[in-house]
Amino acid sequence: MFSPAAPWPLAASLGPLARQRGLFLHLPAHRRGAAAPPGRPRLPWAWDLPELPELGGPLLAEGAVAASQRRLAAELGANHSWYGVNGASGLLQAALLGAVPPGGRVLLPRNLHRSLLHGCLLGGLEPLFYAPPLDPATGLWQPLPPNELEQLLAAAGELDLLVLVSPTYQGLAADLPALVALAQGRGLPVLVDEAHGGHFGLDPSLPCGALAAGADLVVQSLHKSLGGLGQTALLHLQGPRLAPEAIEQALLWLQTSSPSALLMLSAERALAARLAPRGRRQLSLWLHQARALGDRLRRGGLPLLPNQDPLRLVLDCGALGLTGLAADDWLMARRVVAECPEPLSLTFCLGMGSPRGLERPLAAALGQLRQAWAGADPLPPLAPAPLPALARLAVPLAQAWRAPAVELPLAEAVGRIAARPLCPYPPGIPLLLPGERLDRPRLDWLEGQRQLWAGQIADRVTVLA
Ligand SMILES: Cc1ncc(COP(=O)(O)O)c(C=O)c1O
Repeated sequence: MFSPAAPWPLAASLGPLARQRGLFLHLPAHRRGAAAPPGRPRLPWAWDLPELPELGGPLLAEGAVAASQRRLAAELGANHSWYGVNGASGLLQAALLGAVPPGGRVLLPRNLHRSLLHGCLLGGLEPLFYAPPLDPATGLWQPLPPNELEQLLAAAGELDLLVLVSPTYQGLAADLPALVALAQGRGLPVLVDEAHGGHFGLDPSLPCGALAAGADLVVQSLHKSLGGLGQTALLHLQGPRLAPEAIEQALLWLQTSSPSALLMLSAERALAARLAPRGRRQLSLWLHQARALGDRLRRGGLPLLPNQDPLRLVLDCGALGLTGLAADDWLMARRVVAECPEPLSLTFCLGMGSPRGLERPLAAALGQLRQAWAGADPLPPLAPAPLPALARLAVPLAQAWRAPAVELPLAEAVGRIAARPLCPYPPGIPLLLPGERLDRPRLDWLEGQRQLWAGQIADRVTVLA
Protein backbone atom coordinates (compact mmCIF):
# COMPACT_ATOMS: atom_id res chain seq x y z
CA MET A 1 0.00 0.00 0.00
CA PHE A 2 1.08 3.60 -0.48
CA SER A 3 0.68 6.57 1.77
CA PRO A 4 -1.47 9.25 0.09
CA ALA A 5 1.15 11.82 1.15
CA ALA A 6 3.97 9.90 -0.59
CA PRO A 7 5.46 11.54 -3.68
CA TRP A 8 4.44 9.96 -6.99
CA PRO A 9 6.99 7.31 -7.98
CA LEU A 10 7.99 8.43 -11.47
CA ALA A 11 8.42 12.07 -10.53
CA ALA A 12 10.49 11.08 -7.48
CA SER A 13 12.71 8.76 -9.50
CA LEU A 14 13.30 10.57 -12.79
CA GLY A 15 14.61 13.88 -11.38
CA PRO A 16 17.57 12.43 -9.43
CA LEU A 17 18.39 10.08 -12.30
CA ALA A 18 18.41 12.95 -14.77
CA ARG A 19 20.77 14.98 -12.55
CA GLN A 20 23.35 12.15 -12.24
CA ARG A 21 26.83 12.89 -13.61
CA GLY A 22 28.80 10.23 -15.50
CA LEU A 23 29.56 8.75 -18.88
CA PHE A 24 26.25 7.63 -20.29
CA LEU A 25 26.73 5.40 -23.29
CA HIS A 26 23.27 3.88 -23.40
CA LEU A 27 20.45 4.62 -25.76
CA PRO A 28 18.57 6.85 -26.56
CA ALA A 29 21.38 8.21 -28.72
CA HIS A 30 21.03 11.79 -27.53
CA ARG A 31 22.95 10.69 -24.39
CA ARG A 32 20.63 12.14 -21.80
CA GLY A 33 20.42 15.37 -23.73
CA ALA A 34 24.17 15.98 -24.09
CA ALA A 35 23.94 15.10 -27.78
CA ALA A 36 20.47 16.50 -28.30
CA PRO A 37 19.83 18.23 -31.59
CA PRO A 38 19.90 22.01 -31.20
CA GLY A 39 16.76 24.10 -31.43
CA ARG A 40 13.93 25.60 -29.46
CA PRO A 41 11.92 24.97 -27.41
CA ARG A 42 14.40 23.06 -25.27
CA LEU A 43 13.19 19.57 -24.55
CA PRO A 44 13.98 17.72 -21.30
CA TRP A 45 16.29 15.28 -23.08
CA ALA A 46 18.02 14.30 -19.85
CA TRP A 47 14.75 12.79 -18.66
CA ASP A 48 14.42 10.54 -21.71
CA LEU A 49 15.78 7.48 -19.97
CA PRO A 50 15.70 3.77 -20.86
CA GLU A 51 14.48 0.96 -18.60
CA LEU A 52 17.11 1.56 -15.89
CA PRO A 53 16.71 -0.70 -12.83
CA GLU A 54 15.24 2.20 -10.83
CA LEU A 55 12.61 2.83 -13.51
CA GLY A 56 11.74 -0.55 -15.01
CA GLY A 57 8.88 -0.63 -17.52
CA PRO A 58 5.15 -1.37 -17.81
CA LEU A 59 5.74 -5.13 -17.87
CA LEU A 60 8.38 -5.35 -15.14
CA ALA A 61 7.43 -6.09 -11.54
CA GLU A 62 10.01 -3.75 -10.01
CA GLY A 63 10.85 -0.09 -10.53
CA ALA A 64 9.10 3.26 -10.56
CA VAL A 65 6.88 2.47 -13.55
CA ALA A 66 5.49 -0.64 -11.82
CA ALA A 67 4.99 1.33 -8.59
CA SER A 68 3.23 4.10 -10.49
CA GLN A 69 0.95 1.60 -12.23
CA ARG A 70 0.12 -0.10 -8.92
CA ARG A 71 -0.75 3.24 -7.35
CA LEU A 72 -2.94 4.23 -10.29
CA ALA A 73 -4.77 0.89 -10.15
CA ALA A 74 -5.38 1.36 -6.42
CA GLU A 75 -6.56 4.95 -6.78
CA LEU A 76 -8.78 4.29 -9.80
CA GLY A 77 -10.25 1.03 -8.52
CA ALA A 78 -8.69 -1.47 -10.95
CA ASN A 79 -6.81 -4.68 -10.16
CA HIS A 80 -4.09 -3.87 -12.72
CA SER A 81 -3.21 -0.78 -14.77
CA TRP A 82 -0.63 -0.52 -17.55
CA TYR A 83 0.77 2.55 -19.29
CA GLY A 84 0.80 2.51 -23.07
CA VAL A 85 2.87 4.76 -25.30
CA ASN A 86 1.22 3.85 -28.59
CA GLY A 87 -2.05 5.56 -27.87
CA ALA A 88 -5.36 4.01 -26.97
CA SER A 89 -4.92 2.23 -30.34
CA GLY A 90 -2.06 0.04 -29.11
CA LEU A 91 -3.79 -0.80 -25.85
CA LEU A 92 -7.12 -1.65 -27.49
CA GLN A 93 -5.28 -4.10 -29.71
CA ALA A 94 -3.44 -5.65 -26.76
CA ALA A 95 -6.72 -5.91 -24.83
CA LEU A 96 -8.35 -7.78 -27.73
CA LEU A 97 -5.44 -10.16 -28.20
CA GLY A 98 -5.13 -10.78 -24.47
CA ALA A 99 -8.83 -11.44 -23.94
CA VAL A 100 -9.73 -13.49 -27.02
CA PRO A 101 -7.94 -16.54 -28.48
CA PRO A 102 -7.41 -16.82 -32.25
CA GLY A 103 -10.69 -17.67 -33.93
CA GLY A 104 -12.63 -16.28 -30.94
CA ARG A 105 -15.77 -14.22 -31.56
CA VAL A 106 -16.00 -10.54 -30.59
CA LEU A 107 -19.11 -8.37 -30.70
CA LEU A 108 -18.07 -4.84 -31.71
CA PRO A 109 -19.93 -1.61 -32.45
CA ARG A 110 -20.18 -0.48 -36.07
CA ASN A 111 -18.85 2.92 -34.91
CA LEU A 112 -15.62 1.32 -33.69
CA HIS A 113 -12.27 3.12 -33.93
CA ARG A 114 -10.24 1.51 -36.71
CA SER A 115 -7.59 0.27 -34.23
CA LEU A 116 -10.11 -2.32 -32.98
CA LEU A 117 -10.48 -3.60 -36.51
CA HIS A 118 -6.69 -3.85 -36.75
CA GLY A 119 -6.68 -5.78 -33.46
CA CYS A 120 -9.16 -8.31 -34.85
CA LEU A 121 -6.96 -8.72 -37.90
CA LEU A 122 -3.76 -9.22 -35.88
CA GLY A 123 -5.37 -11.67 -33.48
CA GLY A 124 -7.20 -13.69 -36.13
CA LEU A 125 -10.48 -12.94 -34.33
CA GLU A 126 -13.95 -13.22 -35.81
CA PRO A 127 -15.69 -9.84 -35.50
CA LEU A 128 -19.47 -9.47 -35.40
CA PHE A 129 -20.74 -5.92 -35.73
CA TYR A 130 -23.75 -4.32 -34.08
CA ALA A 131 -25.15 -1.04 -35.31
CA PRO A 132 -25.98 1.35 -32.44
CA PRO A 133 -28.75 3.86 -33.26
CA LEU A 134 -27.67 6.67 -35.60
CA ASP A 135 -29.50 9.98 -35.30
CA PRO A 136 -30.23 11.14 -38.89
CA ALA A 137 -30.76 14.76 -37.77
CA THR A 138 -27.23 15.12 -36.35
CA GLY A 139 -25.44 12.24 -38.08
CA LEU A 140 -24.16 11.07 -34.69
CA TRP A 141 -24.01 7.50 -33.40
CA GLN A 142 -26.02 7.25 -30.20
CA PRO A 143 -25.32 5.07 -27.16
CA LEU A 144 -26.57 1.50 -27.38
CA PRO A 145 -29.75 1.08 -25.29
CA PRO A 146 -29.61 -1.91 -22.90
CA ASN A 147 -32.74 -3.52 -24.40
CA GLU A 148 -31.01 -3.57 -27.81
CA LEU A 149 -27.96 -5.23 -26.29
CA GLU A 150 -30.19 -7.91 -24.83
CA GLN A 151 -31.57 -8.74 -28.29
CA LEU A 152 -28.09 -8.67 -29.83
CA LEU A 153 -26.68 -11.06 -27.25
CA ALA A 154 -29.56 -13.45 -27.81
CA ALA A 155 -29.00 -13.35 -31.61
CA ALA A 156 -25.20 -13.45 -31.68
CA GLY A 157 -24.68 -16.94 -30.23
CA GLU A 158 -21.42 -17.93 -28.54
CA LEU A 159 -19.14 -14.90 -27.89
CA ASP A 160 -15.78 -14.33 -26.20
CA LEU A 161 -15.89 -10.55 -25.68
CA LEU A 162 -18.22 -7.57 -25.96
CA VAL A 163 -16.73 -4.18 -26.91
CA LEU A 164 -18.48 -0.93 -26.02
CA VAL A 165 -17.42 2.60 -26.97
CA SER A 166 -18.40 5.20 -24.39
CA PRO A 167 -18.29 8.16 -24.42
CA THR A 168 -18.13 8.91 -28.13
CA TYR A 169 -15.95 11.65 -29.62
CA GLN A 170 -18.91 13.97 -29.11
CA GLY A 171 -19.30 13.12 -25.42
CA LEU A 172 -22.36 10.87 -25.73
CA ALA A 173 -22.25 8.33 -22.91
CA ALA A 174 -23.93 4.93 -22.67
CA ASP A 175 -25.64 3.44 -19.63
CA LEU A 176 -22.51 1.43 -18.86
CA PRO A 177 -23.61 -0.14 -15.56
CA ALA A 178 -26.69 -1.67 -17.26
CA LEU A 179 -24.81 -2.78 -20.41
CA VAL A 180 -21.90 -4.31 -18.50
CA ALA A 181 -24.24 -6.13 -16.11
CA LEU A 182 -26.21 -7.60 -19.01
CA ALA A 183 -23.11 -9.02 -20.68
CA GLN A 184 -21.44 -10.23 -17.51
CA GLY A 185 -24.71 -11.82 -16.42
CA ARG A 186 -24.15 -14.19 -19.35
CA GLY A 187 -20.50 -14.73 -18.37
CA LEU A 188 -19.31 -12.46 -21.19
CA PRO A 189 -16.36 -10.14 -20.41
CA VAL A 190 -16.57 -6.51 -21.53
CA LEU A 191 -13.93 -4.18 -22.95
CA VAL A 192 -14.85 -0.48 -22.89
CA ASP A 193 -13.09 1.91 -25.25
CA GLU A 194 -13.14 4.94 -22.95
CA ALA A 195 -10.56 6.84 -25.00
CA HIS A 196 -12.57 10.05 -24.66
CA GLY A 197 -13.66 9.54 -21.05
CA GLY A 198 -10.55 9.27 -18.87
CA HIS A 199 -12.11 11.96 -16.66
CA PHE A 200 -15.50 10.27 -16.32
CA GLY A 201 -14.61 8.34 -13.18
CA LEU A 202 -13.25 11.46 -11.51
CA ASP A 203 -16.25 13.68 -10.95
CA PRO A 204 -19.74 12.76 -9.69
CA SER A 205 -21.41 15.22 -12.09
CA LEU A 206 -20.23 13.10 -15.05
CA PRO A 207 -21.78 9.76 -16.09
CA CYS A 208 -20.45 6.62 -14.43
CA GLY A 209 -16.97 5.72 -15.73
CA ALA A 210 -16.26 2.27 -17.17
CA LEU A 211 -14.26 1.03 -14.17
CA ALA A 212 -17.01 1.96 -11.72
CA ALA A 213 -19.48 0.28 -14.08
CA GLY A 214 -17.52 -2.97 -13.59
CA ALA A 215 -16.04 -3.39 -17.10
CA ASP A 216 -13.36 -6.09 -17.22
CA LEU A 217 -11.03 -4.10 -19.47
CA VAL A 218 -10.96 -0.33 -19.92
CA VAL A 219 -8.78 1.69 -22.28
CA GLN A 220 -8.36 5.43 -21.74
CA SER A 221 -6.49 7.82 -23.99
CA LEU A 222 -4.71 10.24 -21.70
CA HIS A 223 -3.79 12.69 -24.42
CA LYS A 224 -7.43 12.88 -25.53
CA SER A 225 -9.12 13.19 -22.19
CA LEU A 226 -6.67 13.96 -19.38
CA GLY A 227 -3.83 16.12 -20.64
CA GLY A 228 -0.97 13.60 -21.02
CA LEU A 229 1.49 13.92 -23.90
CA GLY A 230 0.50 12.52 -27.30
CA GLN A 231 0.42 8.68 -27.46
CA THR A 232 -0.16 8.24 -23.73
CA ALA A 233 -2.88 5.83 -22.67
CA LEU A 234 -3.87 3.46 -19.89
CA LEU A 235 -5.26 -0.06 -19.88
CA HIS A 236 -7.07 -1.29 -16.76
CA LEU A 237 -8.13 -4.80 -15.82
CA GLN A 238 -10.47 -5.84 -13.03
CA GLY A 239 -12.59 -8.79 -11.96
CA PRO A 240 -12.14 -12.56 -12.21
CA ARG A 241 -13.06 -13.15 -15.87
CA LEU A 242 -9.72 -12.40 -17.57
CA ALA A 243 -6.17 -13.35 -16.61
CA PRO A 244 -3.62 -10.55 -16.13
CA GLU A 245 -0.90 -12.87 -17.50
CA ALA A 246 -2.73 -13.14 -20.84
CA ILE A 247 -3.06 -9.34 -21.07
CA GLU A 248 0.64 -8.88 -20.24
CA GLN A 249 1.56 -11.43 -22.90
CA ALA A 250 -0.39 -9.43 -25.50
CA LEU A 251 1.18 -6.17 -24.32
CA LEU A 252 4.57 -7.79 -24.80
CA TRP A 253 3.63 -8.75 -28.37
CA LEU A 254 2.41 -5.29 -29.32
CA GLN A 255 4.13 -2.62 -27.27
CA THR A 256 7.57 -1.17 -27.89
CA SER A 257 10.52 -2.58 -25.91
CA SER A 258 11.68 1.02 -25.31
CA PRO A 259 8.73 2.76 -23.59
CA SER A 260 9.37 6.46 -23.25
CA ALA A 261 9.90 7.58 -19.65
CA LEU A 262 8.91 11.10 -20.66
CA LEU A 263 5.58 9.95 -22.05
CA MET A 264 4.87 7.82 -19.00
CA LEU A 265 5.83 10.66 -16.68
CA SER A 266 3.40 12.93 -18.50
CA ALA A 267 0.71 10.27 -18.08
CA GLU A 268 1.44 9.97 -14.36
CA ARG A 269 1.36 13.74 -13.99
CA ALA A 270 -1.92 14.06 -15.85
CA LEU A 271 -3.58 11.56 -13.51
CA ALA A 272 -1.81 12.66 -10.33
CA ALA A 273 -3.01 16.21 -10.95
CA ARG A 274 -6.63 15.09 -11.21
CA LEU A 275 -6.53 12.57 -8.35
CA ALA A 276 -5.26 15.07 -5.77
CA PRO A 277 -8.10 16.69 -3.78
CA ARG A 278 -7.23 20.08 -5.28
CA GLY A 279 -7.25 18.61 -8.79
CA ARG A 280 -10.68 17.06 -8.22
CA ARG A 281 -12.03 20.41 -7.01
CA GLN A 282 -10.51 22.07 -10.08
CA LEU A 283 -12.12 19.54 -12.40
CA SER A 284 -15.53 20.12 -10.76
CA LEU A 285 -15.10 23.84 -11.23
CA TRP A 286 -14.01 23.53 -14.87
CA LEU A 287 -16.98 21.26 -15.60
CA HIS A 288 -19.31 23.75 -13.95
CA GLN A 289 -17.77 26.62 -15.91
CA ALA A 290 -17.94 24.62 -19.15
CA ARG A 291 -21.66 23.85 -18.60
CA ALA A 292 -22.33 27.53 -17.96
CA LEU A 293 -20.35 28.45 -21.09
CA GLY A 294 -22.35 26.01 -23.22
CA ASP A 295 -25.64 27.32 -21.77
CA ARG A 296 -24.70 30.92 -22.54
CA LEU A 297 -23.73 30.04 -26.13
CA ARG A 298 -27.09 28.27 -26.53
CA ARG A 299 -28.97 31.24 -25.08
CA GLY A 300 -27.08 33.39 -27.58
CA GLY A 301 -28.74 31.32 -30.32
CA LEU A 302 -25.94 28.90 -31.21
CA PRO A 303 -27.23 25.38 -31.91
CA LEU A 304 -25.15 23.18 -29.60
CA LEU A 305 -26.16 19.54 -29.38
CA PRO A 306 -26.90 17.97 -25.98
CA ASN A 307 -24.30 15.54 -24.63
CA GLN A 308 -22.93 14.30 -21.31
CA ASP A 309 -19.44 15.81 -21.43
CA PRO A 310 -19.41 19.58 -20.87
CA LEU A 311 -15.80 19.69 -22.10
CA ARG A 312 -16.95 18.73 -25.62
CA LEU A 313 -19.03 21.38 -27.40
CA VAL A 314 -20.78 19.98 -30.45
CA LEU A 315 -22.05 22.52 -32.97
CA ASP A 316 -25.09 21.45 -34.97
CA CYS A 317 -23.74 22.67 -38.32
CA GLY A 318 -26.59 21.09 -40.27
CA ALA A 319 -28.99 23.46 -38.48
CA LEU A 320 -26.89 26.40 -39.68
CA GLY A 321 -27.00 25.12 -43.26
CA LEU A 322 -23.43 23.86 -43.75
CA THR A 323 -21.48 20.67 -43.16
CA GLY A 324 -19.11 20.32 -40.22
CA LEU A 325 -16.25 20.04 -42.71
CA ALA A 326 -17.18 23.38 -44.34
CA ALA A 327 -17.55 24.99 -40.90
CA ASP A 328 -14.13 23.65 -39.93
CA ASP A 329 -12.49 25.08 -43.07
CA TRP A 330 -14.17 28.46 -42.53
CA LEU A 331 -13.07 28.62 -38.87
CA MET A 332 -9.57 27.31 -39.58
CA ALA A 333 -9.06 30.15 -42.07
CA ARG A 334 -9.79 32.45 -39.11
CA ARG A 335 -7.41 30.51 -36.87
CA VAL A 336 -10.07 28.78 -34.83
CA VAL A 337 -9.09 25.12 -34.87
CA ALA A 338 -11.73 22.58 -33.88
CA GLU A 339 -11.22 18.86 -33.31
CA CYS A 340 -13.67 16.62 -35.14
CA PRO A 341 -15.52 17.76 -38.28
CA GLU A 342 -18.30 15.42 -39.40
CA PRO A 343 -21.01 15.79 -42.06
CA LEU A 344 -23.51 17.57 -39.81
CA SER A 345 -21.50 18.61 -36.75
CA LEU A 346 -18.23 20.06 -35.52
CA THR A 347 -16.80 19.21 -32.10
CA PHE A 348 -14.71 21.57 -29.98
CA CYS A 349 -12.64 20.15 -27.11
CA LEU A 350 -12.26 22.54 -24.18
CA GLY A 351 -9.45 20.41 -22.77
CA MET A 352 -8.30 19.68 -19.23
CA GLY A 353 -8.06 23.24 -17.99
CA SER A 354 -10.18 26.21 -17.05
CA PRO A 355 -12.50 27.14 -19.90
CA ARG A 356 -12.56 30.77 -18.76
CA GLY A 357 -11.11 32.96 -21.44
CA LEU A 358 -12.34 30.67 -24.24
CA GLU A 359 -15.91 31.95 -24.31
CA ARG A 360 -15.49 35.37 -25.82
CA PRO A 361 -13.38 34.36 -28.85
CA LEU A 362 -15.44 31.21 -29.42
CA ALA A 363 -18.77 33.04 -29.22
CA ALA A 364 -17.45 35.71 -31.58
CA ALA A 365 -16.17 33.19 -34.15
CA LEU A 366 -19.31 31.06 -34.04
CA GLY A 367 -21.49 34.18 -34.23
CA GLN A 368 -19.64 35.25 -37.39
CA LEU A 369 -19.97 31.76 -38.83
CA ARG A 370 -23.73 31.82 -38.22
CA GLN A 371 -23.91 35.28 -39.79
CA ALA A 372 -21.99 34.15 -42.86
CA TRP A 373 -24.57 31.37 -43.45
CA ALA A 374 -27.60 33.45 -42.44
CA GLY A 375 -30.60 32.50 -44.56
CA ALA A 376 -29.16 29.12 -45.59
CA ASP A 377 -31.61 26.23 -45.37
CA PRO A 378 -30.81 23.60 -42.75
CA LEU A 379 -29.21 20.52 -44.27
CA PRO A 380 -31.47 17.50 -44.75
CA PRO A 381 -31.14 14.58 -42.32
CA LEU A 382 -28.60 11.92 -43.21
CA ALA A 383 -29.75 8.79 -44.98
CA PRO A 384 -29.38 5.98 -42.44
CA ALA A 385 -26.64 3.49 -43.31
CA PRO A 386 -28.18 0.33 -44.75
CA LEU A 387 -26.64 -1.86 -42.07
CA PRO A 388 -28.26 -4.84 -40.36
CA ALA A 389 -28.58 -4.69 -36.56
CA LEU A 390 -26.04 -7.52 -36.38
CA ALA A 391 -23.61 -8.29 -39.21
CA ARG A 392 -20.97 -10.87 -40.03
CA LEU A 393 -18.38 -10.28 -42.73
CA ALA A 394 -18.93 -12.14 -45.98
CA VAL A 395 -15.19 -13.00 -46.13
CA PRO A 396 -12.95 -13.26 -43.03
CA LEU A 397 -11.24 -9.96 -42.22
CA ALA A 398 -7.61 -11.08 -42.51
CA GLN A 399 -8.31 -13.01 -45.71
CA ALA A 400 -10.04 -10.02 -47.36
CA TRP A 401 -7.42 -7.48 -46.27
CA ARG A 402 -4.48 -9.58 -47.51
CA ALA A 403 -5.94 -11.02 -50.70
CA PRO A 404 -5.04 -9.78 -54.21
CA ALA A 405 -7.26 -6.76 -54.87
CA VAL A 406 -8.27 -4.34 -57.61
CA GLU A 407 -9.62 -0.79 -57.56
CA LEU A 408 -13.00 -0.14 -59.16
CA PRO A 409 -15.22 2.93 -59.48
CA LEU A 410 -17.93 2.74 -56.81
CA ALA A 411 -20.61 2.36 -59.47
CA GLU A 412 -18.96 -0.81 -60.85
CA ALA A 413 -18.48 -2.60 -57.54
CA VAL A 414 -21.96 -4.12 -57.09
CA GLY A 415 -21.74 -7.60 -55.61
CA ARG A 416 -17.97 -7.38 -54.98
CA ILE A 417 -16.24 -7.86 -51.60
CA ALA A 418 -14.38 -4.91 -50.07
CA ALA A 419 -10.66 -5.55 -49.56
CA ARG A 420 -9.79 -2.27 -47.78
CA PRO A 421 -11.67 -0.02 -45.37
CA LEU A 422 -13.00 3.41 -46.30
CA CYS A 423 -12.30 5.55 -43.27
CA PRO A 424 -12.39 9.34 -42.87
CA TYR A 425 -10.11 10.61 -40.05
CA PRO A 426 -11.10 11.91 -37.58
CA PRO A 427 -13.14 10.23 -36.19
CA GLY A 428 -11.46 7.08 -37.58
CA ILE A 429 -14.73 5.16 -37.88
CA PRO A 430 -14.70 3.02 -41.05
CA LEU A 431 -17.65 3.47 -43.41
CA LEU A 432 -16.76 0.21 -45.12
CA LEU A 433 -14.96 -2.83 -43.69
CA PRO A 434 -12.73 -5.33 -45.51
CA GLY A 435 -14.76 -8.47 -46.07
CA GLU A 436 -18.13 -6.67 -46.47
CA ARG A 437 -20.24 -7.32 -49.57
CA LEU A 438 -21.10 -4.23 -51.61
CA ASP A 439 -24.73 -4.36 -52.62
CA ARG A 440 -26.56 -1.56 -54.44
CA PRO A 441 -28.07 0.18 -51.34
CA ARG A 442 -24.65 0.21 -49.67
CA LEU A 443 -22.93 1.68 -52.73
CA ASP A 444 -25.61 4.36 -53.09
CA TRP A 445 -25.17 5.23 -49.42
CA LEU A 446 -21.36 5.40 -49.82
CA GLU A 447 -21.80 7.71 -52.79
CA GLY A 448 -23.97 9.97 -50.60
CA GLN A 449 -21.34 9.89 -47.83
CA ARG A 450 -18.64 10.79 -50.34
CA GLN A 451 -20.40 14.07 -51.06
CA LEU A 452 -20.69 14.82 -47.34
CA TRP A 453 -17.08 14.00 -46.40
CA ALA A 454 -15.72 16.42 -49.02
CA GLY A 455 -12.64 14.84 -50.53
CA GLN A 456 -11.98 12.36 -47.71
CA ILE A 457 -13.47 9.37 -49.52
CA ALA A 458 -12.28 8.29 -52.96
CA ASP A 459 -14.73 7.59 -55.74
CA ARG A 460 -13.12 4.19 -56.13
CA VAL A 461 -13.16 1.21 -53.84
CA THR A 462 -10.63 -1.62 -53.46
CA VAL A 463 -12.28 -5.02 -53.84
CA LEU A 464 -11.15 -8.63 -54.00
CA ALA A 465 -9.74 -9.45 -57.43
C1 LIG B 1 -13.14 6.15 -29.70
C2 LIG B 1 -11.67 6.11 -29.98
N1 LIG B 1 -10.94 5.06 -29.54
C3 LIG B 1 -9.62 4.98 -29.75
C4 LIG B 1 -8.93 5.96 -30.43
C5 LIG B 1 -7.45 5.84 -30.63
O1 LIG B 1 -6.80 6.68 -29.72
P1 LIG B 1 -5.24 7.05 -29.86
O2 LIG B 1 -5.16 8.18 -30.82
O3 LIG B 1 -4.85 7.44 -28.47
O4 LIG B 1 -4.53 5.85 -30.33
C6 LIG B 1 -9.64 7.06 -30.92
C7 LIG B 1 -8.96 8.12 -31.69
O5 LIG B 1 -9.53 8.98 -32.30
C8 LIG B 1 -11.04 7.15 -30.69
O6 LIG B 1 -11.78 8.19 -31.13
